[in-house]
Amino acid sequence: MKKILILNGSPRKNGKTASLINAFAEGAQSTGNKVNNLYLNSMKIKGCLACEKCSQNGGECVQNDDMKIVNEAFEWADVVVFASPQFWGTITGQLKIVIDRLYAVQNKIGFPNFKKETALIMTARGDNYRFALDFYNIFVNLMGWKDHGTVLGAGKEDEAREIGANIK
Ligand SMILES: Cc1cc2nc3c(=O)[nH]c(=O)nc-3n(C[C@H](O)[C@H](O)[C@H](O)COP(=O)(O)O)c2cc1C
Repeated sequence: MKKILILNGSPRKNGKTASLINAFAEGAQSTGNKVNNLYLNSMKIKGCLACEKCSQNGGECVQNDDMKIVNEAFEWADVVVFASPQFWGTITGQLKIVIDRLYAVQNKIGFPNFKKETALIMTARGDNYRFALDFYNIFVNLMGWKDHGTVLGAGKEDEAREIGANIK
């Protein structure tokens, strides 16, 4: 059993990305995993200020906003799934801001604890995921996270369900 946090960066709550997320969560729960699906668009989260206070004070961010909900869920999770529609070649601002703000969590809990398993769920109007995949791979490799796979494209609910179910 794994604890899975899904970070949904789509502004459309019931859009194509959400449909893949639902299939992934269904698969994951069918094999006993616990899922927390966070809809980031409803949260008030500002961008990282790069003030570096969090690297001097044990990981407390100077900004008091809804990121504390994400931080708590992140610390709870074994697996963190990034889900987003493609906006101008990459993930949405909603998701990018949250990933940037994880910098403080990394300063709080330190590297070994910051290490998670992961997966990427993404939809796009076209079929070029190169730029988004580069971003994902750079982040995952830099952090040494274990990749469970990528679901790239609306309508791939079966693939999403299978990747979810394979997390154990
Ligand atoms: C601001 C914006 C930028 C987009 N940029 C791209 C893009 O670069 N490449 C692409 O294939 N689709 C692009 N799209 C289309 C969305 O990625 C696509 O419709 C996606 O499936 C929507 O997911 P959703 O239903 O979760 O909102 C863009 C859409 C918007 C609103």
